[in-house]
This record gives sequence, C-alpha cells and structure tokens, in this order.
Amino acid sequence: MCGITGYVGYRQVTPVLLETLKKLEYRGYDSAGIAVLHEQALLVRKMKGPLKVLAERLASETIEGSLGIGHTRWATHGEPSDINSHPHTDVAGHIAVVHNGIIENYAKLKEWLQAQGVVFRSDTDTEVIAHLINYYYGKNRKKQENDSGTEDALLHAVLQTLTRLEGSYALGLIAIENNDFPDRLIAVRKDSPLIVGLGKGEHFIASDVPALLGYTREVYFLEDREVAVLYRDHVDLFTEQGEQIHRAPSHIDWDMASAEKGGYAHFMLKEIHEQAKAFTDTLRPRLTREAQGWDITLDEIKLDAGWAAAPRIVITACGTAWHAAMVGKYAFEHFARIPVEVDIASEYRYRNPVFNPQDIFIVISQSGETADTLAAMRLAKQGGARILAITNTVGSTLSREAHLVLYTWAGPEIAVASTKAFTTQLLCLYLLALKIGVLRSKVPDVDRYLGALRDMADKAAQILHKQELIQRFASRQFNKDKVFFIGRQFDYAVSLECALKLKEISYTHSEAFAAGELKHGPIALVDTNTLVVALATQRELFDKIVSNIREVTARGAATWVITWEGETVFNAIADEVFTLPQTEDSLSPLLSIIPAQLFAYYCAVQKGNDPDKPRNLAKSVTVE
Ligand code: M6R
Repeated sequence: MCGITGYVGYRQVTPVLLETLKKLEYRGYDSAGIAVLHEQALLVRKMKGPLKVLAERLASETIEGSLGIGHTRWATHGEPSDINSHPHTDVAGHIAVVHNGIIENYAKLKEWLQAQGVVFRSDTDTEVIAHLINYYYGKNRKKQENDSGTEDALLHAVLQTLTRLEGSYALGLIAIENNDFPDRLIAVRKDSPLIVGLGKGEHFIASDVPALLGYTREVYFLEDREVAVLYRDHVDLFTEQGEQIHRAPSHIDWDMASAEKGGYAHFMLKEIHEQAKAFTDTLRPRLTREAQGWDITLDEIKLDAGWAAAPRIVITACGTAWHAAMVGKYAFEHFARIPVEVDIASEYRYRNPVFNPQDIFIVISQSGETADTLAAMRLAKQGGARILAITNTVGSTLSREAHLVLYTWAGPEIAVASTKAFTTQLLCLYLLALKIGVLRSKVPDVDRYLGALRDMADKAAQILHKQELIQRFASRQFNKDKVFFIGRQFDYAVSLECALKLKEISYTHSEAFAAGELKHGPIALVDTNTLVVALATQRELFDKIVSNIREVTARGAATWVITWEGETVFNAIADEVFTLPQTEDSLSPLLSIIPAQLFAYYCAVQKGNDPDKPRNLAKSVTVE
C-alpha cells in the first residue's frame, strides 16, 4: 500500500518527509520520492528501491524549503521504476502530486489529455491527476485575468479534477502559485485513508497515524470526499463542492506499536478486517455497468474466444494459494463447465506433466516469488502453455514472466498467515470463472451472481462485527488436541484453508476432510478431545452433513457448524452454530473462511503465540 506524507511549516521539510515516510515503511513499498518547494521551483527526487537509498542521495545535495510532499509507492499501474515513482508532475513541473489508490478511468482520461497535447512520462494512473489539475488551473487563471475574478484558481482546479476521477484516491499536492497565496498543501481523500496532523505553526498529512506521532497527536481523519487545505497557521476543510466544513479534531492516544497496526493487536487481525475493503478494491475496477446490466471487464488480460474454447484449465500454487486453486476448480467447473486440474506446484514440477498448448494455465501466488510456483510456471511455459498469473505483487518475478497477470489488489499482507490475499484470490477466480462461463453461454443468470459479488464486502463486514462470538468460542476450545474441518463440495475446498490457518498459528493438530471420506478412515481419530468444525453452506447437501455431524458427536467430539442465517437444521445437533449472511451457495467460500480465520487467530492468542510470526514459517518461501 502506498504511503503519503506532507508538511507545511517552519522546519526544513526534507528530514520531516523522510522521517514520516520511514514510519510508513511497514505498509510495504518498492520506491520512494519527495517534492519540495525550493526557491520558487518544485524539486522532485524519486527512485526505485528503499527509502534509505533515497535519503543517501538527498544527503548529497542542499534542498531548502518548508513545504513538501513524500511518497512510498507500492506499484499498481506500471512496474516499480524511477519514472513510475511518485511524485508526478504536470509537463512544466509546476504541480506535484502523490497518490494512494487506483484511478479506474485513467486510461480514458489519459487518452483525452493526450488529445489536448499532453505528453506522458510514466505508466501510472496518477500522472493524469497532475495534468488534469494543470489543465483546469490554466483555464481558471485565464478566466481570472479576463474577468479580474478572485476565485482560488488552484483549489477550484483540484475540485474540477475530482469530478473527473473514478476510483479511490488519497492525494497530496503542492504547486508553484502566483503570489496570492502563502505556502500551502492540498489533500483529498476518497476510499483511501488520509490524516491531517495539527501542530503549532506547522501542519502535516499522512496515510496513517504512526507517521505523525513524533510531531502531534491532534488530527483530522479526513472523511470520504473531503478536501483539506493546509497553511502554516491554519487548516481549512471543504466538501468536494467547495463548501467549508467545521469540526473538532480527534486526539490520538495510541502508542507507536499499536498505531502501526491501526489499533489492532496484530497485523493478522488488521488484515482479516481489511477484507471488506480488499473485496471492493479487487472487484470495483472489474465490474462495469453496461446498458444490459453489469459486466465483468478484465481489460488487463483481454479474454477472447480462445479462452472460451480451452479444453482444460490447469492451476498450480502452494499453501493458501493452492487452497484458492481448489475453490477455483469448483468454481470453473460450476460456472464455465471446463475440466480443471489443480496441482501443488512442488509436485507439478517433478511429476512429468502432460502439456496441451490449448489449456489455460493459471499460477497463483500472493508474493509472486515462491520458488516452487515459479519453477512450475517455467516448466509449463517451456511446454508451450499460456500462463495467467494471479498475484498481489506488481513487479514480482511471477508478474514479469507470466504472459498475463490479474492482480488481487489486497494491499500488502504483512502477517505470515495469509488472509486477505486468499479471499481476493478467490474473487479473481470467481470473476474469471463467471467471465469464461458467459463466453461459453453457461451462465444465463450472471447478473444474479454479479449482484451477490457486489454485496460481498458488506456481508464480510457483518461477519467481522460478530468477532466477539468467535473470540468467546475460541477461549473455550483452544486447548483441544485435534480440530478437524469437514465439508462437501465448495465447503471441502475451504476446509483445507481453515485447517491450514489453525495449524500455522495455533500449532494445534488440524486437518481438513471431505465429509464423505470420514468413514473411510479419519473417523478413527475422533475422540472426546476433538473439535469437528462442519462447514455447511451447500443447501442441497445439508442432509449429508447432518449425518456426518451425528457420526462424530456419537464418538464424543464437540462440534461447531458454520452455516447460513435462518438455517435452523443444525441447532439441535451441534454444540455451537455460527451463521453467515446469506448469499449464493457457490460463492460461500468468500464468507465462510472469515470465521475460521478469526477462530485460528483467537486460538493462537489464547495459547500465547504471536500470530504474526508463527514458528518455523516465513512470509515468502523463495527457496525449495
Ligand atoms: O506467496 P505465495 O502465495 O506463493 O505463498 C504460498 C505459500 O507459501 C503461502 O500461502 C503459505 O502457505 C502461507 N503461510 C499461508 O498462510
């Protein structure tokens, strides 16, 4: 996730920007940059790589100024590079902008600006903002000269620009203005966080609280579509329509460690809670409203008839990403009616697989750097396969070597146990399955599913509101010797991930079983020190899962059922039932994993484990 900071005041701005950016490093980034108003010119210094390299470079020159903006970039549009780093400026270098978020309509805006003669330097979506503001600023200034008007040409240009932007943005900008205005910094927020810090004779902006704690604890948390104009001695807040807003600042009393985690006790809990937003970020740019209803737009991979005609889909991945692939198998077969083969990457690379160049070959990896996954991809590529990567990391080896890439837009995942990366991988797989299903005329009622997907962020938030129920349940069950997750169909695929989450961080022996397999062996393990968690979201299989629950309760196991709100069939037979807001059975994995993630988290905490850094595990497995 990108990090933004900005300052106007009496101090030398460069050290302030570097120090505040450093406090945002935990968000993950691949490049960094600053823009400073220095002797009536905007000096921009930016480069790919860590902040300390930028700091070394800045130490070799004298940049004086007390107005500036800074940025750590986590690449979305365009690879990590010096030129794609922020800040971005208009052609003359009079306006500098830093941005966190995604401008969904940037391609159209870029085309329009190019038609006005603007020459672009980067591949980013952000650059359009600098050019658009400059375009309107120029017009407003001309109007001022003609009518001797007194309007604030820059602020007005920013507001005009906002009317043209679709997507999410937190923005910080500075400009060389005529002498009507003292130094000032403009900040805007929509669907991406931005905070204004209030000092004495100085003011700040930042993406997150930790950046500001060394300077102030009095802040405005900008609301969506609010604009802040920061001067040395005061801050004005406006609506996007330019109406002034008055409200009291908030006081922050978090310490630094909890501030980095956004007030959550651990990154894992924070990331579990970020899933609702990650759903929106992953979905919104890809669902477009057409005359006949909603449509899935996967511009980045340009699905054509060849995809619809593919005889088979092969998916490889490791760990959590492999579990996403398992859900994907059910989704592709359900919606697109294409046979799917799913392979653990470390097996695929050594098992002499049979290639068919007509196959769609999908590789899934949060980091895009997992050694086994890369090796499997390279093998398939040599065999002539078309490779589609699903990854969370722009510029990763996987994203560079695959033919096509679909990004998950989950934001950086810091906790070792994957949560929001998994659910956004699922979302990408569902979008692909539905799109290919439509191309193959297999999903006549696609609107129904797209409507359900659009509601998914709200439903995830409803589950997260019930986390205390799970915390209490975990406090009663965390000491069980064994926890088995059972399910059928989509529920079986998700059970695999539920069991991995629990074993990774609580160190409890947990396994997932296809519920129908219990009697073929695993039931021998069930005793009074066993918890069996039954995922029950496939309504037509309820009777079967009821029988499985009876089988394990008869052997003394405690049972927890995860099912839909309004379904009462399990109340009398399970020890505990957790209900999910209703959606399509076939989309249930997007929701049913969330209580299991929370359960794993709270069991780990009860046992005194650090859920963010489980023993023996690394976030990215770049060796075999
Ligand atoms: O970065 P990747 O998605 O390729 O990583 C794959 C696995 O190493 C990863 O999912 C691992 O299983 C996680 N610790 C799961 O929480």
